[in-house]
Amino acid sequence: MTEFGRVRLAPGYSIAPVINGCWQLTPDHGGGPSSEAEILRIFAELVDHGFTTFDCADIYTGVERLIGRFRRSLPDPDLIQVHTKLVPDKATLHELTAQQVEAVIDRSLERLGMERLDLVQFHWWDCGVPGLEMLTECLVRAQEQGKVRLLGATNFNTVAIRQLVEQGVPLVSLQAQYSLLDRRPERHMTGLSRERGVGLLPYGVLAGGFLDAKYLGARPPGRMNRSLTKYRLIIEEAGGWETYQDLLRVLSSIARKHAVPLELIAARWVLDRPEVKAIILGVGSRSRASRNTALAEVELDSEDRQRIRMQLERQRIPAGDMYDLERDQNSPHSAIIKTNLQQAPL
Ligand SMILES: NC(=O)c1ccc[n+]([C@@H]2O[C@H](COP(=O)([O-])OP(=O)(O)OC[C@H]3O[C@@H](n4cnc5c(N)ncnc54)[C@H](OP(=O)(O)O)[C@@H]3O)[C@@H](O)[C@H]2O)c1
Repeated sequence: MTEFGRVRLAPGYSIAPVINGCWQLTPDHGGGPSSEAEILRIFAELVDHGFTTFDCADIYTGVERLIGRFRRSLPDPDLIQVHTKLVPDKATLHELTAQQVEAVIDRSLERLGMERLDLVQFHWWDCGVPGLEMLTECLVRAQEQGKVRLLGATNFNTVAIRQLVEQGVPLVSLQAQYSLLDRRPERHMTGLSRERGVGLLPYGVLAGGFLDAKYLGARPPGRMNRSLTKYRLIIEEAGGWETYQDLLRVLSSIARKHAVPLELIAARWVLDRPEVKAIILGVGSRSRASRNTALAEVELDSEDRQRIRMQLERQRIPAGDMYDLERDQNSPHSAIIKTNLQQAPL
């Protein structure tokens, strides 16, 4: 078995190239394992296989505490890295205060049982609403106080990321949607990423599970968890169900050639983008730790890359820059996003 190397996100800080995404573990997602015991077993298996980095958020109900319990069960809790987020409520964005930001950071520290958060990825719903500068100042102060190690952003467009970098916010990463069905980061962000060294940490790499052999030749599912609901819309943006089926056929044939599961070809393609530091894959309904180690061995050759390129030429790139569709109040993409979760229990 080829071992995955580590990825250096910043001096003295390295992570696994595949990050364990924990949105699926929130009670209202409808896509995670059935019990906490099962989740903790899956976490342990992931760590045993070298997948030591976890992605969560202040607004993923119950998940920071869950990871905190897992950390405490480890002989060395510092064996794992935890990337959380700071997502203020949209309804009260205009009145967010420095005290509230500090309280959110302290709450994440307490929930996770950590003295310093490894990476805080912040979001701001609307750059037209003042307050983002106050937020980043608070985060930089938290870094200086030793409460936060590194800063990242999530779901900003390239213009906003450029502004943040030019204002001197020490961003090491941007978490954004990036997959064979959604190449919006290639419009502008990958250029900025190369220019300013802000690494990409993509989500949506498997389109919530749609980039999986089980959908090959299938009709659109009736019942969908929250991820599938979100990425079903992206399939439409990319050209529709039949175009997506063509993509699955191409991936299936390449996967057969390499004797690996189809989804690992989709994941490898994103991981191979030079601007991508590491990919996030959701912790799904069951353990895929041992299956996903095969990702280290897959090497797409020039024929594979050419076949994928030809398929991508037949697809559409969703409109606008990263997260523009999701920010648009008139688009169905925004309707499925929960924007006020700071007061949720746990
Ligand atoms: N910043 C943001 O706005 C944002 C948005 C979305 C997600 N995220 C982050 O990204 C993480 C991933 O979520 P996502 O929406 O991007 O989902 P994803 O990683 O594209 O898809 C994950 C799903 O794919 C299925 N799957 C099939 N084969 C798999 C394999 N080999 N390994 C892992 N999963 C496999 C699983 O579903 P089944 O078990 O049901 O088959 C799993 O739940 C989240 O947990 C979260 O941390 C962030």
